[in-house]
Amino acid sequence: MKLLIVGGAGYIGSHCVLESLRAGHEVVVLDDLRTGHREAIGDVDLVEGSLHQPNVLRSVFETHQIDAVFNLAASCSVPESVHNPGLYYHNNLAGTLNLAAAMVEAGVTRLVHSSTAAVYGDPEEVPIPEDHRMQPVNPYGDSKRLVECTLTEMAKAHDLKHVCLRYFNAAGADASGLIGEDHADESHLIPILLQCALGHRSHFTIFGSDWETRDGSCIRDFVHVTDIARAHLMALERIDDLAGESINLGSSHGASVREVVDIAKRVTGCEFDVREEGRRDGDPAVLLASNEKASSLLGWTPDNSDLDFIMETAWRWHRTHPSGYGSDFRQIPGQKSRFGELAVKLGFVTEQDIDRVLIEQDKIRSEGRGHKMMGLCMVEMGLISTTQLVEILRHYDDGEE
Ligand SMILES: NC(=O)c1ccc[n+]([C@@H]2O[C@H](COP(=O)([O-])OP(=O)(O)OC[C@H]3O[C@@H](n4cnc5c(N)ncnc54)[C@H](O)[C@@H]3O)[C@@H](O)[C@H]2O)c1
Repeated sequence: MKLLIVGGAGYIGSHCVLESLRAGHEVVVLDDLRTGHREAIGDVDLVEGSLHQPNVLRSVFETHQIDAVFNLAASCSVPESVHNPGLYYHNNLAGTLNLAAAMVEAGVTRLVHSSTAAVYGDPEEVPIPEDHRMQPVNPYGDSKRLVECTLTEMAKAHDLKHVCLRYFNAAGADASGLIGEDHADESHLIPILLQCALGHRSHFTIFGSDWETRDGSCIRDFVHVTDIARAHLMALERIDDLAGESINLGSSHGASVREVVDIAKRVTGCEFDVREEGRRDGDPAVLLASNEKASSLLGWTPDNSDLDFIMETAWRWHRTHPSGYGSDFRQIPGQKSRFGELAVKLGFVTEQDIDRVLIEQDKIRSEGRGHKMMGLCMVEMGLISTTQLVEILRHYDDGEE
């Protein structure tokens, strides 16, 4: 099939692009790159344009024989939506309306649409079933709720088959380490923790430690981004039978914020400062998906959503791209330097030490302090003595491998 993936250059969208290509589909991406990245989709056909440009939408459907659409384009920061609600109703609701109208005009009938757990608000029941009342507590969730209602009404009047997938906390990265999460103003828990591990943030803050949960911190449901991408393809396969359905995508196993912090420290091997502050407005104590409907209707199970695997894949991405898609690839973890290899071979440092040195070098660079030699970093970090530095340099100069 030929798929149009709107918002395909974003975090989840780029994983949908990759899984679709792996499944043998052709893909065209429409994205205005407001938060997405050209590099996230390699050489996939990109139409750089917005959902607010009806001419661009019309031209995409005229130029390409599109069989189905995945719509992931949205503004999706909860705090930003509170400060700028107009942007959220405009981009998420009006944008999707434009897309649906263009699809109707072009006779493209299949749409898998990104929705969110934020449509429920503070839950009365966990795990949350899809028929739970929708009472969002912020404009982001409300804009997504309104999109669902609008699509339902449009589907009554037009030949438009849609499925809304309500993701819980999307996390992790493709196992290849090639693509991952890169948001300029990061508000998600796992990338923030990994930025702490990289030394890009001074500390991590737990908001609220007096909830009625097993350790006092909030409980959230993390679902691997690859599992979300797989669900899009499964929904598309069954869309004739499932049209009009809204389906949760979550692991149904929650982790507390404290547990996630511990896993981040264990997987990265990095210590960082953790502080505690009071509860934030609008944070429910527990958010957990019931995923029975995804299992029974789609045959979907969250195969990759074990939290260790989520953290490992996220860390693989973040440590090799410490500054996101704009990272300097000359000296990043995983890209072994000969100096580093010699230091390991001589038994002075471990592979993990090298990763830490590379992270430190990247941090120095990103702070505009230039490039610091690996050997010098190792000495300053107390990993090797100056005598050992001289010894490594002797082997280095000898051209020894
Ligand atoms: N990340 C999560 O945990 C999560 C959870 C639930 C739901 N969602 C939903 O998943 C979708 C993708 O989220 P994400 O985390 O990948 O966000 P993202 O910001 O990384 O991706 C959104 C993409 O859409 C593009 N875009 C936005 N508005 C556009 C417009 N008007 N026209 C064209 N392109 C536009 C952006 O440039 C970006 O590439 C969103 O709809 C979001 O609401 C995300």
